[in-house]
Amino acid sequence: MLVSFITLLRKARHDGAAPEAPKPVSYPPNKAAEEYPDVWQNMAYIKSREEYDVMYQRSIKDPNGFWRDIAVKEYAWQTEPHEHHYTSNFDVRKGKVFSRWFRGGKTNMCYNCLDRHVEAGHGGERAFIFEGNSPGVQAEATYAEALSEVNRLANWLKAQGVRRGDFVALYMPMILELPYAMLACARIGAVHAVVFGGFSAEALAGRIEGCKAKVLITCSATMRGAKPVNLKAIADEGCEHAKAKGHEVPKVLVYHNPECGKREDVNMVAGRDEFWQDAVPHQSPQCPVEWVDAEHPLFLLYTSGSTGKPKGVVHATGGFMVFVGQTTKYVFAVHPGDVFWCTADCGWVTGHSYVTYGPLLQRATSLVFEGVPTYPTPSRCWEVVDKWQVKQFYTAPTLIRSLMRFGDDYVARCDRSSLRILGSVGEPINPEAWRWYRDVVGSGKCCVCDTWFQTETGGHMIVNLPSAWTEKPGSASLPFFGVQPCLCDEKGREVPGVAEGTLCIKTSWPGAIRGVFGDQKRFEETYFKPFPGHYFSGDGARRDEDGYYWITGRVDDVINVSGHRIGTAEVESALVAHKHVAESAVVGYNHPIKGQGIWAFVTLKEGEEYSDTLKKELITTVRTEIGPFAAPDVIHWAPGLPKTRSGKIMRRILRKIAANKLDELGDTSTLADPAVVQVLIDMRGK
Ligand code: WTA
Repeated sequence: MLVSFITLLRKARHDGAAPEAPKPVSYPPNKAAEEYPDVWQNMAYIKSREEYDVMYQRSIKDPNGFWRDIAVKEYAWQTEPHEHHYTSNFDVRKGKVFSRWFRGGKTNMCYNCLDRHVEAGHGGERAFIFEGNSPGVQAEATYAEALSEVNRLANWLKAQGVRRGDFVALYMPMILELPYAMLACARIGAVHAVVFGGFSAEALAGRIEGCKAKVLITCSATMRGAKPVNLKAIADEGCEHAKAKGHEVPKVLVYHNPECGKREDVNMVAGRDEFWQDAVPHQSPQCPVEWVDAEHPLFLLYTSGSTGKPKGVVHATGGFMVFVGQTTKYVFAVHPGDVFWCTADCGWVTGHSYVTYGPLLQRATSLVFEGVPTYPTPSRCWEVVDKWQVKQFYTAPTLIRSLMRFGDDYVARCDRSSLRILGSVGEPINPEAWRWYRDVVGSGKCCVCDTWFQTETGGHMIVNLPSAWTEKPGSASLPFFGVQPCLCDEKGREVPGVAEGTLCIKTSWPGAIRGVFGDQKRFEETYFKPFPGHYFSGDGARRDEDGYYWITGRVDDVINVSGHRIGTAEVESALVAHKHVAESAVVGYNHPIKGQGIWAFVTLKEGEEYSDTLKKELITTVRTEIGPFAAPDVIHWAPGLPKTRSGKIMRRILRKIAANKLDELGDTSTLADPAVVQVLIDMRGK
């Protein structure tokens, strides 16, 4: 009784006391504000680090109030979230790990992306621009048109028996029908699982079977530059394999891509397959919205980890919506009507967040590009920028490096004066590429916004807000609102100040991963066990004297190839699937264009011959097991692998051999057989 009285008294005193005055911190003059006057004056929502500090402090001291205010003011809810809507536990020692945001709220992502704008009188504004593989192939869709098309598809899905909570797999190229399909699922509460069009039949099958997809939506084919890719054939094989694994997809919807062949030539399975063009246009352009709880899953997206099979990362409707909308708004300084071009494929998280959802939530125009950036010439990106007057351009360092190689002329011959913001994502951007991006592509007049995030984080976590503070090439700089990063040492202790360590996140944020599909144990083991009390990102980082974060790369067995995450274990198991392979160990090495390349050490079974033909076969095996983008760059024959006495492969040594840093091999005396190291060195390049 006494205790509770004292607590009450303390609380009363605390409540009555004047709020703690924020400590004024002054920073050096912000060069970015002077260098990019248009961004600073006319676009940026946050104009200084001081302004950011105030908002950031509130976001971490009062996450409930901070996010609820935004959610209620800037988004539509059928039922608004509770005052105290946020609960989470990141500490495995305290029980089940979870994140819940906007509890009590009911909303719909599709409604927020489309209907909301149409109802407010903006139906005639452009939602999407489509730029096809061949110059001249193009389309535009207003918000009203996009809504009708999405509704038609939503009605077709319902007619197939797809209900709230059912899974729909999407295996499509970058055509407007892909974001339409995502939005149609969201509208009826179905959960989309987009599979990147570069994945093989085998990888597609695993994903279809994993979520027991009720429908697969695919496309007849697509052109990548001059090369046709027969998606339907891969999809058919994927369905066959999924069936063999125990799940038969009842219905496949096929968009006939008129740019790639006649529809008569598309293989259709009777009773299962239907053409989009036959099925969807007959449906009604009206479809009621399915209001869902804020925590209702919006999508499932598979990603690679350090071990075994890819994980199905689950995101929730309300949190993802608010977080992605806000990061789009602040990080790219997006205003309604801006033409926003994110070059990522919707098969990756960047495409989910910043092709489909983010731009629409901000009533911008999202540009969807089917082709490749160097086709027909390395000027293509800048021609597209000029043609559609793109304001925000968002891509990966690997693309910047590959275009840089062709020289400045391809850039200089285009105007590019519409550009204001140049985003970067996927890997740390090397300062050379950063400078070329800013000075050549952006003519020194655009902010470069480096954005660190992951499939698991839903949206940007560490970013430089445009013109709010001075950029440093190679650093994504400071945490976004509500994000509390920290650096941990090997013992899991947070290291303060200027330091280096493993990048972790201390508390939940609205866009946080809600789980690994069907596997709470794996969710906790992967992300919350390595550093109890924290979300473990898998990245290393450094913090400098200005508090800026510098990502140093993965600390786990994940390789980042052209901004694509590839688990070494996945490539290894693909290689071992070949009948002649006994064992393999895969490591990353520095690659001038891709960032990292894949270096595979392979041991053959007793009696098998090491040959160049076999090397080719092994590469083909990886292409068919995972997809072309995961094909090893180097196959290094390894009659033996360096192992500890307990049988663990010492990858540290393999990485040094791949990098040709032979004087840095370190201590090899703990190996079961130290002689294998010299054999491997001798086999380099053979
Ligand atoms: C890396 C892609 C440095 C990082 C959005 C992360 C980055 C992984 C950056 C996530 C960046 C992404 N600077 N590294 N700006 N952005 N990464 O899940 O290693 O495909 O853990 O999401 O990419 O890859 P994912």
